[in-house]
Amino acid sequence: MSTLKNNSPIAFFDSGVGGLTVLDKVKKILPNENFIFYGDTAHVPYGDKSKEQLIEYARPILKFFEQKGCKAVVMACNTTSSVIYDTIKNDYDFRLYPIVQSVAKILSSLKVDKLGVFATKATIESGAYQKEISKYNKSIKVYGQYCPHWVNIVENNKISTKEAEDIIKNDVDKMLKNSPEKIVLGCTHYPYLTKVLSKFAPEDLFIDPAADFAKFIKEDLEKNNLLSVRNAGKEEIFVSSEPVKFKKAAGIFYKLSSQPILKELQI
Ligand code: DGL
Repeated sequence: MSTLKNNSPIAFFDSGVGGLTVLDKVKKILPNENFIFYGDTAHVPYGDKSKEQLIEYARPILKFFEQKGCKAVVMACNTTSSVIYDTIKNDYDFRLYPIVQSVAKILSSLKVDKLGVFATKATIESGAYQKEISKYNKSIKVYGQYCPHWVNIVENNKISTKEAEDIIKNDVDKMLKNSPEKIVLGCTHYPYLTKVLSKFAPEDLFIDPAADFAKFIKEDLEKNNLLSVRNAGKEEIFVSSEPVKFKKAAGIFYKLSSQPILKELQI
C-alpha cells in the first residue's frame, strides 16, 4: 500500500522559469493542492548538458522533494524527461511525471502527417518525441529542431529585442521548410515566446503541451486517490541562484508578485 499522503505537496522542477508554464496549467485545474517549485537557475540551460550532469543536478532536487514529503514530482522540463527519466524512474516512491512521455499519447492522436518539434539540443538529440509518439502512432513523421538561443532569451529577459526576434524568425523559417501541420513547443520555456512566434507563423500552428500534461497529472492523482481533500493553494518557489532575475523573467508569464515565498536555496 502506498504511503503517499493526499494532502502532501506536488513538486515541480526545471532549469529555470520554463517549468512555471506547467505549474500555471496544473494550478488552474487543481486549485486545492499545495505546490513546491524548484528552478535550478545555477545550471540553466539544461539543454546543452550531458546526461551525467543532468542526473547530478536532479538527484539533490529529488531528494529535497522527498524530504518535503511530496506525493508527486512533475518533471516540468522536456530535457530531463527525455534524457534521464528512464534511468531514474524507479528510484523514488512519489509519483513521477515526465512531460514528454505523459503527453506523447495525446500528441499521437493529432490528425497530422508531419509534426514539428522545437526543443533543446539534448531533447532533440535524444529522439524522445519521435520515440514516444511512435509507441502510439507510427505514421506521424516528427521533424525535431533545436533552438540553441531561446532559453537564454527567456531567462535573460530579452524577448522583445530585435536580436531575439531575428533569431526566432530564422529558426521558424527553417522549420517551416518541412511544412509541418503543427509544431510542438517541446521546451517549457518556449510558451514565453508565443507572441513573437505568432509574428512569423499562425499562432494555432503551435502546441503548448502543458494543458494536456496538467490533465494527465490530475487523472493519475485521481486514479491513485491522491487528490488533496482540503482547500490549500500554498506555493513555495525555490531557485538555486539569482532570485531577482528569476522573478523578472517569470513575470512575463506568471504572476510571481502575488507569491510572497521565493527563496534562494542551493542544494
Ligand atoms: N525548460 C526545459 C525544457 O523543457 C529546460 C531548458 C534548458 O534549460 O535548456 O527542456
